[in-house]
Amino acid sequence: MQFEISDHPAPRSAEQIQKVLADPGFGVNFTDHTAVIDWTDQDGWHNARVEPYGPITLDPAAAVLHYSQEVFEGMKAYLHSDGSIYTFRPHANAARMNKSARRMALPELDEHDFVASLEQLVTADKAWVPGGEGEALYLRPFMFATEAFLGVRAAKEVSYRVIASPAGNYFGGELKPVRIWVSRDYVRAAPGGTGEAKTGGNYAGSLVAQQQAAEKGCQQVLFLDPLHENAVEELGGMNVFLVTNDGRLLTPELTGTILEGITRSSVIQLAKDRGLTVEERRITLDEWDQGVRNGQITEAFACGTAAVITPIGELVDGEHSIASTGTGEVTQALREELLGIQTGTVEDRHGWLHRLA
Ligand code: PLP
Ligand code: COI
Repeated sequence: MQFEISDHPAPRSAEQIQKVLADPGFGVNFTDHTAVIDWTDQDGWHNARVEPYGPITLDPAAAVLHYSQEVFEGMKAYLHSDGSIYTFRPHANAARMNKSARRMALPELDEHDFVASLEQLVTADKAWVPGGEGEALYLRPFMFATEAFLGVRAAKEVSYRVIASPAGNYFGGELKPVRIWVSRDYVRAAPGGTGEAKTGGNYAGSLVAQQQAAEKGCQQVLFLDPLHENAVEELGGMNVFLVTNDGRLLTPELTGTILEGITRSSVIQLAKDRGLTVEERRITLDEWDQGVRNGQITEAFACGTAAVITPIGELVDGEHSIASTGTGEVTQALREELLGIQTGTVEDRHGWLHRLA
């Protein structure tokens, strides 16, 4: 697919960009361009382009505004010391977007066109990639139903876009353990639902739980399995791992209700490379609680593109709390190795990097 490039008529100056990159925050600043590809039932994917970033014109009847037919991805572009820009496992994100698209009755986009859209956007906006510790250009590909039609069926007109946003620590400030709220009132997903898809509704449904968490001074919500009492699933936007004192890494198995994180699968690989035993299975809160108390569970961390690897501190619900395990050695080592691979300072022995610009 050939992308037509329309340069921004008044792009931000080098000085303005530097001001943003000096303190990027997360998800609040956007680059000068966006990549777009249109789809119709009749013509398939067409009109691939890079155009100036700006508001989208949508018909008020556009299906996405009523029935949330949309999917998205989250990935990052990293600045290497020679000025080149890489992303991490983009074909895995392409495959996951297509899996989400199938679940939401959206069209699949060829993986090469997905990767090309990232290359084109990052080439246009390469001045926007921050290079500080833990910083990157967050890339947000998304696809949504634009057709103006109020009947409930899969839309015949769809738009795919990519926007980019310079990003620092997702939780703000320096890296420190996050406090987690265990949601007893709300579940995120159930068998046969959309939990395994990266679709906006899953996040909309998590917001009241996230509000409760904020009221309790927590930064993320831990959702439990609605079928198996006390079984841990994942956080609102991250997967969860526990580390034991005898060299095991535990993480909830993929049951169809958890998002299969690309960071999760990378952590599993890096842990195995280190000789750790990885157990993907059901983990209950009781096992977590008792394990921390008797010293068997020494570390807990969350992982995802936005969060990278972030230690989990205290876990609380209305009645009790699981004590903090702090920032452990294994968490720290995995974080450094993963970030090192992504930013080009540690050998990429699994061939996970892809050059964008
Ligand atoms: N789980 C949820 C619900 C997420 O939103 C994310 C973030 O994308 C993840 C897990 C981690 O996925 P990844 O590592 O691919 O970013
Ligand atoms: C990501 O990690 O890319 C996500 O989409 C999760 C969200 C919390 C920003």
